[in-house]
Amino acid sequence: MADMLVKLYNIPCSHDIEENLSKSGIRIKKALAPDRSKIITFARTCAKDDYSDEVRAAFANNPVTCYIATREKELIGFACYEATARNFFGPMAVLESERRKGIGKALLLKSLESMQELGYAYAIIGWPAKSAVDFYKKCVDAILIDEKSSGVYKRMIEIDE
Ligand SMILES: CC(C)(COP(=O)(O)OP(=O)(O)OC[C@H]1O[C@@H](n2cnc3c(N)ncnc32)[C@H](O)[C@@H]1OP(=O)(O)O)[C@@H](O)C(=O)NCCC(=O)NCCS
Repeated sequence: MADMLVKLYNIPCSHDIEENLSKSGIRIKKALAPDRSKIITFARTCAKDDYSDEVRAAFANNPVTCYIATREKELIGFACYEATARNFFGPMAVLESERRKGIGKALLLKSLESMQELGYAYAIIGWPAKSAVDFYKKCVDAILIDEKSSGVYKRMIEIDE
């Protein structure tokens, strides 16, 4: 398993992509405490892996370190940062039927911009899904960090390296 590194000083601006999405009624916004349960439920089921525990961790931060995408008052995507470790981006997911419309890229860029505002020069994408590695490469030139072990995840109960 390898994490990925992003140079925050080189990321593209989210403005145009967000504006394009808004023309289709898709809004990207910071998650708010009253929506916590809804987002946790969504994160449990909207992708192959259950991301609900990381969403809980993002909601333990103040301000909350999670962005969501909505359309017509429905949740269609989320992205977290500062959840598993400081300086870590992820997890994120977009509803399967809403993929390949730019929503994931907008959520990613908004989160990375917030991380830049926190003072980071680089961000780590923690344990990206294999199928998402090319997405991160394409959107923000992320590079794989060479590592044979499970990195920060090695103390997980089910990994236990
Ligand atoms: C990875 C994921 C978040 C991407 O979301 P998305 O909304 O489909 O992505 P976008 O539409 O914003 O894609 C942005 C660009 O990346 C490309 N892209 C999207 N998914 C890709 C993939 N899996 N591999 C390669 N390129 C991909 C798009 O074609 C688009 O390219 P363009 O700018 O040239 O048009 C989504 O596929 C998903 O939720 N997957 C399941 C959960 C997951 O793997 N999460 C990441 C692990 S932490």
